[in-house]
Amino acid sequence: MCGIAGYVGPKGAESILTVALERLKYRGYDSAGLCIVNDGDLLLRRAAGRLRELEHELADHPISGNCGIAHTRWATHGAPTSENAHPHKDGDNTVAVVHNGIIENHEQLRRALEADGAVFNSDTDTEVIPHLLARAYQGDPVAAVREILPKLEGSYAFAAVFADQPGRIVAARHGSPLLLGRGKGESLIASDIPALLPHAHEYCPMEDGWVVDCTGQRIVVCSADGTPVEAEFKPIEVEITEVSMGDYDSFMAKEIAEQPEILQRLLDSRLRNGDLVEPDLGIDLKTINHVVFLACGTSWHAAMLGKRFLEHYARVHVEVDISSEYRYRNPVASGDTLVVPISQSGETADTLAGLRLARSMFMPVVSLVNVMDSTIARESDGVLPLMAGPEIGVASTKAYTAQIMALYLFALQVARAKGRLDQERLNAAILALKAIPEQVTETLALCEEVVEHTADLFAPASASVFLGRGGEHVTALEGALKLKEIAYVFATGYAAGEFKHGPIALVTQHLPLVCLCPRDAMHDKMLSNIQEVRARSGRVVGVGAPDDQALADLCDFVFPVVQPQEELLQPLLTILPLQRYAYHVARKRDCDVDQPRNLAKSVTVE
Ligand code: M6R
Repeated sequence: MCGIAGYVGPKGAESILTVALERLKYRGYDSAGLCIVNDGDLLLRRAAGRLRELEHELADHPISGNCGIAHTRWATHGAPTSENAHPHKDGDNTVAVVHNGIIENHEQLRRALEADGAVFNSDTDTEVIPHLLARAYQGDPVAAVREILPKLEGSYAFAAVFADQPGRIVAARHGSPLLLGRGKGESLIASDIPALLPHAHEYCPMEDGWVVDCTGQRIVVCSADGTPVEAEFKPIEVEITEVSMGDYDSFMAKEIAEQPEILQRLLDSRLRNGDLVEPDLGIDLKTINHVVFLACGTSWHAAMLGKRFLEHYARVHVEVDISSEYRYRNPVASGDTLVVPISQSGETADTLAGLRLARSMFMPVVSLVNVMDSTIARESDGVLPLMAGPEIGVASTKAYTAQIMALYLFALQVARAKGRLDQERLNAAILALKAIPEQVTETLALCEEVVEHTADLFAPASASVFLGRGGEHVTALEGALKLKEIAYVFATGYAAGEFKHGPIALVTQHLPLVCLCPRDAMHDKMLSNIQEVRARSGRVVGVGAPDDQALADLCDFVFPVVQPQEELLQPLLTILPLQRYAYHVARKRDCDVDQPRNLAKSVTVE
């Protein structure tokens, strides 16, 4: 949550940082600001609201210089006002700071600083940092940063510029992500790789405890006690087109459309000569009898499907835990348990805390992540990459389908390691997987017209219910989450068999119900559930086979989906019309699909 960026080099920092903020705004977008060091002064511009408000402010009151820091905020402490927007400065204009994370002992620090004469201008936890730095500063910015670190509790990645140090940015990290970028005579810092482009050619993720001193010519790293650290830089492989919208009207639309290509890429990396490529996960899967999935939001939904896959193929016990619950329980650890965190960003604070708890109990950890340089990836014994490319829309779409496919492949790998998968079943599974990318393309094309038309009709409805059974219960939860988060429609998903135990009381002619009813083992049971809804005048949207007449007869509309060769993979296809439905409803309701209110893409605070 919150994005930070910094630039020092020969070019105009203001325009580079504005572009960087544009690329980081998925991390928070309720206010933004930047500070340029110029001629012994710290020039600050901040604005509440979306990034365009800051751009207006910069157009009205331009600033320029070759060194600066910038921030896009997701409010934790203090409302999203321009006073609370970062950067924050000390009272004497010595230093300006941008920060991502939470300083948990900020109240105590603030009281002590106020007693010492500091005047605070914001309600943020962050503002203690510039006041502490100004007091510690004796002409050496790195020494000042190192001096204050022991006083800070909580998580942070912060960057500071000093008025009398033009061309220099100092940064520190503890618990929140920060990357260093190196270009030709220029250095950058940012919360994520896209914000380093196109100026940096190489990058290095900072480790906890590092303090970094950047000028255009060099990046010097040391640990908090001053010991020099050799930072290893790698080439940046992300293409600029991967972080641009291209011809689409939103990243969400682009990312939904990218799914066939992404799934194909993932499959190509995991299948060779008709066989499964089994990545080395650093553990002996044979010994695993128990798997615990940890995840939040959409990734948690994917985990529920992972449970079905593992139970089916590998016959191991599987628990699916919400990370924020797991981390505060006292889970039972056993030697044959594998903990599997699932996270698109690899930075979700609760999932990371769950991972650390598992490791503290000596359980092996294999994670599924999309961002390979993330903290979760780095702290795991083994990693299964999702290979979905940068996901920028706040609503997770392509990462979800990649998670489903990666979990299915993982289940096959575990089953094979445990000797529970014969060649015939493996061949059938591989055949079914190979057909998926084409089936995704087909389903997206097949459903679009009716999805858009239905969205037109139901967009004004203020609530919606999604029903499904088995794997489609998971699709119901995920479809409801998509509609809630980007269209602000109160939506809820139920296991259809549970519906008559209370929630059916909600049904009226004004309530749209989306019923997942593909031709699977639960098909006839779902038809009965739909009958029950119809008998109470509910409006039903079915999701199922295009030639399912029984379903069509019961529904106001049917979103057609292709049937995969393996029933377990059906949720990978049924979610597609629901992603598009949420997108269309959101657009009809005039919502910003990429930056829904109150949200941020990576939830890096608790
Ligand atoms: O990066 P992660 O997969 O750990 O993120 C987990 C959730 O925050 C995320 O899936 C969230 O629910 C999405 N906005 C859903 O679209």
